[in-house]
Formats: sequence, C-alpha cells, structure tokens
Amino acid sequence: MRKEIAEMAAAVRKVTDFQPKVALTLGSGLGNFADTMKVEAEIPYKDIPGFPVSTAPGHEGKLLFGYVEDVPVVCMKGRVHYYEGYPIDKVVTPVRLCHALGAKIMFLTNAAGGAKESYHPGTLALVKDHISVFVPNPLIGPNDDEEGVRFPDMTNVYDKGLQEIIQKTAQKENIPLDTGVYVQLTGPSFETPSEIKMLHALGANLFGMSTVVEAITARHCGMKVCCISLVSNMAAGITGAPLTSEEVIEAGNQAASNFTRLVRSSIEEMGEE
Ligand code: HPA
Repeated sequence: MRKEIAEMAAAVRKVTDFQPKVALTLGSGLGNFADTMKVEAEIPYKDIPGFPVSTAPGHEGKLLFGYVEDVPVVCMKGRVHYYEGYPIDKVVTPVRLCHALGAKIMFLTNAAGGAKESYHPGTLALVKDHISVFVPNPLIGPNDDEEGVRFPDMTNVYDKGLQEIIQKTAQKENIPLDTGVYVQLTGPSFETPSEIKMLHALGANLFGMSTVVEAITARHCGMKVCCISLVSNMAAGITGAPLTSEEVIEAGNQAASNFTRLVRSSIEEMGEE
C-alpha cells in the first residue's frame, strides 16, 4: 500500500474500527443525504494527516462511518476537485483510503450539467460510461502493483450488476431514472455553448468537474463502481441562461427526497451482493 494511504488508514483506525462495505461520495448540494445515515463515527478531513480538504461550496468535508439500512457505509461528505489546485493523485486519495479501509463498492454521485432531450433540471441519471480525456489520468506515475495493474481495462467501469440494482430500485420506488455518459472537465469555469456542442458530438450528455478520476482509481484497485448524476442545470447554451453554482446547490435540495430514497434503497440491495 502507498505509504501516505497507510498513514491515513492508521489515523482513521485510531478513531474507529468500522468496516465499510460501500464507499459513498456525495456531490454538490447532495450532502444532506448524510443526515439519513445512522452514524457510528465521524472524522473531519482536516484531522486525517495528508487528506485533501474541500473548499468548494456545498462540500462540508468529513468522513462518516455508519449504516444505511443495515449496510456498513463510509460516506465522503464533500470531495475535492482538481480545480481547487490539488494534484490529480491527491484528488483521488479519498478513494484509495476507502479501499484501504475495506470498501468493496464505490458509489459516486455528482451534480452535472445535462444535454439530452429527456433531461430537465432535477433529472436523476444513471451513468453508463464516461469520457476522461479532458483531465489528467489519476494513475499517471509509478504503479503500485499491489493496488492494481499498470494498464487497467476500462471496458465496463460502471458495474453492470450495480446498474441493474439501481435501475430495478428506481422502478420499484417509482423514481424516474434516466441514463447518460459523463464527461469530466477541469473547471472551474463552466463550459461555453460551443464546448457543450463539441462534447455532445463526442457522445457525452452529462458535464461535470468530478467523478471520472475517482471511478478510474476505484476500478484500478478492484472496487465495483456505480454513479448517479443529478442534472442540476441544462448545459451551457441550451436555455441561454447563465449558469451559477447557487442553482447547482438549489437543484440538489429540490431533488433531495428522490435522490435519498434511490440511494438508500439501492445500497440496501447492494448489501445482499
Ligand atoms: N458544467 C460543469 N459542471 C457542472 C455543471 C455544468 O453545467 N453543473 C453542475 N456541475
């Protein structure tokens, strides 16, 4: 294991011996999900030596250990982004730490701009695949062979079995769930309308500043990955209205009830896996 990850894991283990099965990252405006967890222990990021601390709006910055419907979960309430100035390998440190603590499933969530006929602000979309080529790859640098192979396959990043669980759960709970392909951009500026046209022509319909580097890292270390995006706004140029971070947070609050139900019930099913 990487030395810095081993040190972080040791710091966590001084506080709790909790064994998570699922690691859950909460996207912008989606942090309220954490209030529905039965929390057993919590550690502010700043108390974990070397752990990157989030500065983005709507990202509080603590690790929560607890139960979602009896399934042991480590929840990252707040994530760091590349645009905050952290090197890309630092951005994915939390994923490696969760893996080191025993998590087998990486459940990613985010708020994203959307471009698809069927989307509207508030749409929940299951991520089917991603485009990573506009951000640095988080695996650049020496490979830790214990963690994963040098050239990891990315044919099925988003686990088919987990996708099925989320889709069946949405049906059962009567929650509309769309699908999409997510592209990560560096940010922090939002895209121009021309950039959105280009990215859409390349096959993307969800646009954001996170997630993909985390998904790659989780796959590299052998975790199963799934992701739900909340379409917080139509992507630049679609309605012509300027984009703001406030509307992203507000959309999270509006969608909180469906989002929470979908994530809770999906994790419950994943506990059976
Ligand atoms: N673009 C990039 N990131 C985002 C957006 C967007 O439109 N909305 C929320 N995060």
